[in-house]
Formats: sequence, C-alpha cells, structure tokens
Amino acid sequence: MSIEIRPSGGVLGHEILGVDLARPISDSTFADIEKAFNDCGTVVIRGQKITPEQQIAFTRRFGELDSYPAGNFALPGHDAILVVSNILENGKPIGMIDAGRNWHSDMLFTEKPPRCSLLYSLEVPHQEGQSIGDTLFASTAVAYDNLPESMKTRLNGLKARHSFRTYAATKSDGREKVGDEFADVIHPLVRTHPITGRKCLYLSHSLTQKIGDLDQAQTRQLAHDLIEHITSERHVYRHSWRVGDLVIWDNCSTMHRAIFDYALPQRRRMHRTTVAGGRPF
Ligand code: SIN
Repeated sequence: MSIEIRPSGGVLGHEILGVDLARPISDSTFADIEKAFNDCGTVVIRGQKITPEQQIAFTRRFGELDSYPAGNFALPGHDAILVVSNILENGKPIGMIDAGRNWHSDMLFTEKPPRCSLLYSLEVPHQEGQSIGDTLFASTAVAYDNLPESMKTRLNGLKARHSFRTYAATKSDGREKVGDEFADVIHPLVRTHPITGRKCLYLSHSLTQKIGDLDQAQTRQLAHDLIEHITSERHVYRHSWRVGDLVIWDNCSTMHRAIFDYALPQRRRMHRTTVAGGRPF
C-alpha cells in the first residue's frame, strides 16, 4: 500500500488516502502514516469499515493501549474502546453523551496523558442533508510558534494545575462519584512534544485551575486568552464526519472540541481508542 496525503488547506487535518485498515498494514506503510500524523497532529482516514478488534489492532501500532479511567462508557467486551454517543438503549446512554464539548486535550487530568486518540464514526447525525456534530481540532504547536516572543518567554517554565475532581462534580453520569479518586495534576503550561521536539501549549477549558502563582481571576483570564489564541481560525481544522471516518489526533500538539448541535432522533455514535503517553515535560 502506498499512501497519498491530501492537505486540508490548513495547518492540520490532512487526509491520508490509499489505506484500508481492514487489511494488514505493512511496517513501511505504517511508518508513512505515523510520519504524516507526527508532522500534522491530526489526520483523517475516510471510508473505513473496521471492527472493534481491527480498530484496537491499528491503535496498538502507535503504542500501548490506554483507556478512559472514569465512568462506565466502555464498549461491552472491549475495555479499550470508549463509546461516545447520544444514543439511549432501554432508557440508558450507551456511551459518553457529552464528550469533549469544551476545548481540551484527552485525559490531561492524568499524570501520563495519552499520546493520541483515534475516533471512528459509526453513526453521524444529519440535518437537511448535511452532516452535523462536527469536531474542531486546533494546533497547539503552531499556536505556540505564532505567539509573540515576549509571551513565549513569560509562559515557558510555568506550571499549571488541572483538576478532574472539580470538573467531575458538575456531571451526573457516574463521573461525579469517582472524581475524588483523581488527585489534581501539575503539568508544564508549555510542553515539549516527545517525538518532534516542538513546543506546545498545554491546558484545558474546563480543568485548568491554576497557572504559576496567578490568582484565580488571573488564571482564568490567561487560560481564556491562550485558548482564544489557540482556537483562532488559522490554527483550526473543522471535521465534518461521514460514517467510516477515522480521525487520529495528537494529545500534545492539538486540542479539540465536539460541536453539540444535534439531538435525538439524530443519532451520533463513535468509538474512541487511546494510546498511552508519558509524563509531560
Ligand atoms: C472526544 O473529545 O474524545 C470526542 C470528540 C467528538 O465526539 O467529536
């Protein structure tokens, strides 16, 4: 298999063509996919028809599996697959209904957040013939590069505290019961990508509680300003889903947000796998 890259026109979201993940992928094809992924931070592979086992097997090519540690959203029989869905069966949600509605990087609340996530679409909501329920991706690496030098100097070396507990307390899907099991974590606000060496802004809309020695209002203001900068149009790719898409994103060099503009009977169903990562530095 030789792959082709179709640029998205922006800084991330390039499409990889010529891949059938239901068939074995050679090491050299995988190396090309991984290189495109590392260079760009978010890549799209459309038109796939894969089983949970095939998604897990492809995910393992990127490294050891990780799984979402809180709540009961795993696909039955497949702990490594987080179901992201608004569908109810027997009156109960089959997955996480409100995943990623604010700008975030997956599982930033853990000591060792995942390297990357892979989201595979099984059902996509539509309105008047158009798909809805898009996902936005922003490059935290390009956003860092585009900061004024004085801001880079100010931010480098700062640590940020992130609290899952505070966020989980606002939920009513089981996460509120386990939030206290997660101690707050402290990560560098500017982290270095372990593979590319690029500097990336690292924070979250809902979880970041304190930056450096700033007070709460100053922390909120700085987090707000940085997220506005990261998510400005020149750094963002908007993915309009089709059934069979697999989108792979890097949890260091990108952040993302799911757009919740649909409701039952419009159904959305996705399977997410994650690859373990190291401690941010
Ligand atoms: C996520 O944040 O992992 C889910 C994104 C989405 O549902 O589009």
